[in-house]
Amino acid sequence: MYGKRLGVNVDHVATIRQSRDTLYPDPVFAAMLAERAGAHQITIHLREDRRHIQDRDLDILRDTVQTALNLEMAASPEMVEIAVQVRPDRVTLVPEKREERTTEGGLDVARERKRLKEVVAELRKAGIAVSMFIEPDPLQLEASKAVGADAVELHTGRYCEATTREEAERHLESIRRAAAHGVELGLEVAAGHGLDFTNVEPIAAIEEISELNIGHSIIARAILRGMEESVQEMLDLVY
Ligand code: PXP
Repeated sequence: MYGKRLGVNVDHVATIRQSRDTLYPDPVFAAMLAERAGAHQITIHLREDRRHIQDRDLDILRDTVQTALNLEMAASPEMVEIAVQVRPDRVTLVPEKREERTTEGGLDVARERKRLKEVVAELRKAGIAVSMFIEPDPLQLEASKAVGADAVELHTGRYCEATTREEAERHLESIRRAAAHGVELGLEVAAGHGLDFTNVEPIAAIEEISELNIGHSIIARAILRGMEESVQEMLDLVY
């Protein structure tokens, strides 16, 4: 009834590129390959410190992505200005701390209601759909609805990091309940963060979740899948 879309996050292709300041591997090319494989959306996070995706990547992806471009960003004046100018199909507002390795928790929409309402209105005025990256918590769902968001993305990190079956099941149940609640509120419900080849299936089975955004595990798998072929290509040049 709800369908299921896969957004592929190509940030970590840029992480490898930035580690050497080379032109490769190119997240734009990775996005094209992801689309060719059937991805329904390309997701990128333009971070304040530009540790992986660069402004130029965003500009090029805006022109080349054929499916939908989902820009994850902090709700800062700088990022809002960029989004309004570039106009991705969707913005997912995420909390951002410079010292974090990756997005650590959900956005506290309930606490920042007033400011986020203004940010959501500005983005929606520019024709951009807005999603809030939140913990699977009723308070945050209701606040997301109240600030005018079109969608929420439920943070699956705690479920993915669970160390026992019981703990994983508890987090899964919160995600199930939050997904149903979100749909009741009229929000589109996505989920993501930490999903990999071993833990995605129970999340994918939740009917109300219409979109998954997955990055790290796909990029990691892609590197190993291409290892033998790449070594053979180099051997062909050397010998
Ligand atoms: N969704 C959101 C909102 C994120 O911040 C991230 C990480 O950038 C992802 C999904 C993808 O997470 P992962 O790389 O762990 O699959």
